[in-house]
Amino acid sequence: MRINESVSSRLKNLGAEVQHDVSLKEKTSLGIGGITDEVLLRSYETIPDVMRLLADESIPHRFLGGGTNVLIADGELPYIVLHLPTSQPGMRVEGTAAYIDASADLGGMVTFCAKRDLGGMEGLIGVPGSVGGALRMNAGAYGTSIGPHVREIELYRAASGKLETVRGTDIHFDYRHTSFAPDDVMLRVKLELPPKPFKEILAGIKVCNEKRRASQPLNQKSAGCIFKNPPGGSAGRMIDELGLKGHRVGDAMVSDRHANFFVNAGSASCSDMLRLIEDVRERVRGAYGIELENEVIVWQN
Ligand code: EPU
Repeated sequence: MRINESVSSRLKNLGAEVQHDVSLKEKTSLGIGGITDEVLLRSYETIPDVMRLLADESIPHRFLGGGTNVLIADGELPYIVLHLPTSQPGMRVEGTAAYIDASADLGGMVTFCAKRDLGGMEGLIGVPGSVGGALRMNAGAYGTSIGPHVREIELYRAASGKLETVRGTDIHFDYRHTSFAPDDVMLRVKLELPPKPFKEILAGIKVCNEKRRASQPLNQKSAGCIFKNPPGGSAGRMIDELGLKGHRVGDAMVSDRHANFFVNAGSASCSDMLRLIEDVRERVRGAYGIELENEVIVWQN
């Protein structure tokens, strides 16, 4: 979708930068995605004005964070993409509280806090993506998830058109799911973290990194796990048991390392990946009677 000159200049007046015809292939860890215009916001405080302008002009839009858990359609997209300010996201520690901007890199945040002797998030170190994305889906790994550490979140609430601060206790954080509204936009978070000496945190981080390197295809284009694990089970183990490692549709392929990672083994299209997802879901349903739910977020047109 193309933003016209008049809207572009009004966005510029709000401090936002407009880029035309951006390929979202370059912005996602799967290397899949179509073309659209992109708006880089310069400050959180301008978000309500920017959103009002887009609503007045009937311009459909979506926020893209780290692009590590999303599968985006190919071709010309019927919406624009917004980014939070990403240059030098704020990170600050006061006592056992960490104040982190949502656009910060999740792993960078874990390291930043570790260096200040705040732990509890060792398992999250290799999870790719932004802090905002991790908050929205309650990212987790190796027994850690971000939700339980959240004390306060500042967000843009589309329902009110305002910036609001919400207490962590008012949000439900479940397995890869939260009670945020789909159009809430995470802006900043206050985390409460257990004090731990840096060396100890580092040792925990090393263990998680080794486990991850041994089991996941880290050097291939993927969105992490494609499916959520069903209660008490492992999607990866079931797909593996069905002999589907290496199974492909076009260049979309079930990783031969971890069967719940689907990789772009060349120039996969979104429809290749969607067909692979449906094919595997159907085979698991047939063999185990279990309906796997997507973990990856699909942006279809
Ligand atoms: N397994 C297989 N074959 C495979 C993959 C796994 O047999 O191809 C077996 C493993 O041997 C193990 C069991 O399945 O006995 C579980 O595997 P793993 O430890 O890799 O955990 P997982 O349940 O597949 C979850 C998360 C990962 C997270 C790891 C480590 C989900 C959907 N996945 O994977 O998160 O990194 O645990 O905590 O919850 C993600 O969410 O994107 C993600 C990668």
